[in-house]
Amino acid sequence: MLLVSSPRRPSGWHPLIGHGLTMMRDPLAALERWAREEGDVYRLSFPGFHNWAVNHPDHIEQILTAPSGTRKDRDVERLKSLLGLGLLTSEGDFWRRQRRLAQPAFHRDRIARYAEQMVSLAEAWSGPSRSGEVLDMSHALMALTLEIATTALFSDGSVSGDDIGRALDDVMARYSGLTYLAPDWVPLPAHRRYRAAVARLHRLVDAVISRRRGSGMDGDDLLGMFLTARDQDGSRMNDQQLRDEVLTMVLAGHETTSNALSWTLHLLSQNPVVEGELQDEVRALGGPPSARDVNRLELCSAVISETMRLFPPAWVLGRALTRDWEVGPHRIPAGEEVLVSQWVIHRDARWFPEPLQFRPRRWLDGSTRDLPAYAYFPFGGGQRMCIGKGFALMEATLVLASLLRRFRFEAVAPEKVKPLPSITLRVQGGLPLRVHRR
Ligand code: HEM
Repeated sequence: MLLVSSPRRPSGWHPLIGHGLTMMRDPLAALERWAREEGDVYRLSFPGFHNWAVNHPDHIEQILTAPSGTRKDRDVERLKSLLGLGLLTSEGDFWRRQRRLAQPAFHRDRIARYAEQMVSLAEAWSGPSRSGEVLDMSHALMALTLEIATTALFSDGSVSGDDIGRALDDVMARYSGLTYLAPDWVPLPAHRRYRAAVARLHRLVDAVISRRRGSGMDGDDLLGMFLTARDQDGSRMNDQQLRDEVLTMVLAGHETTSNALSWTLHLLSQNPVVEGELQDEVRALGGPPSARDVNRLELCSAVISETMRLFPPAWVLGRALTRDWEVGPHRIPAGEEVLVSQWVIHRDARWFPEPLQFRPRRWLDGSTRDLPAYAYFPFGGGQRMCIGKGFALMEATLVLASLLRRFRFEAVAPEKVKPLPSITLRVQGGLPLRVHRR
């Protein structure tokens, strides 16, 4: 077979910065357009490197499940200034050990124990002071999921979501728009704020770890699980590893789930029939939801799946190749990077008929049963698959059920609601919804 390593150049290229500007302006639209124009494999150029986009589920499966030959890409590399060598950013044997140590904290029985906290924090959300007021629900959900994450990590209340939230805003600002393109050494105010926020987060978490160690109490929370976890040789995580894992859980865990919930409320506010059916399902519980109800909340979970199809919180994943890879008629040389986008694949009509329609029932009527494995992968796949998937699905289901039981969310200006692709797929400028008490 003819293997080519210099394919044609997709549109939107500039001699100085390659596809950089087009990607920066509107990456979601650009990736969709290129997929239409270029097909399942094409190559983008950026200053100093290439990025190959791969759009077929079978190829995505190959790249994500390969036992070797890939590592995380340069975007993940940049996160190391915040996350050090936590699960998201580390590689090889070091990563394998950390994953072994962290895995028990995400066991199904363990997650069921966090469920009670999730519900009590969701039920404590009091909504607007007056029924019918407009609230920025993406802001409210960000605060709620951050509180859930910090309570799961530090059940003694030693850190509040607020403490971490302000610093995280500065961290996220580093990863969108123009600042994203600029290397760390460029003296931008956003870079200064980023460095200060990272230092604040490190100090905060270090102080909690040292207090916890000093107290001699392990604690029945995620931090406690990490503190006591022992590897086969009896070794434990040191302070640096603990800090990296704690911050990784906060960053990887709360934004993603909060964005999934924001997009769910947005879509429900546009689809009153689905919202009504969901309301019936939630009301049938007869009170606040619990971990035991999750299997009964079938439509609720289908709604969350469908939301993450249309608005995947992790909208793109990257891998750097450590050896050549033959994909279709192309040979991608070692050292180049591959990009796979949930945003593009989840909206591909080959896998999802009427892909832009919000149809949660497609997850219940059997029509998604025979999908290729990687036509839908909101949590990634292979050995680097999200460790928090069970936690996130439990959280999203319980929070959604708790909110819908007590409130109805009415769209205010739906045409203005647009995605902001940062590390996660945020809602640009917030999600104003009119919140009615039931
Ligand atoms: C809707 C919510 C979530 C989504 C969509 C999501 C998505 C993802 C994806 C796509 C990956 C793979 C990244 C890659 O392959 O490069 C990942 C990894 C990870 N996620 Fe999640 N995530 C969610 C919630 C959570 C939660 C709640 C936690 C923790 C409490 C968490 C912790 C992690 C960690 C630690 C990793 C790295 C795993 C490893 O490489 O071993 N995530 N997540």
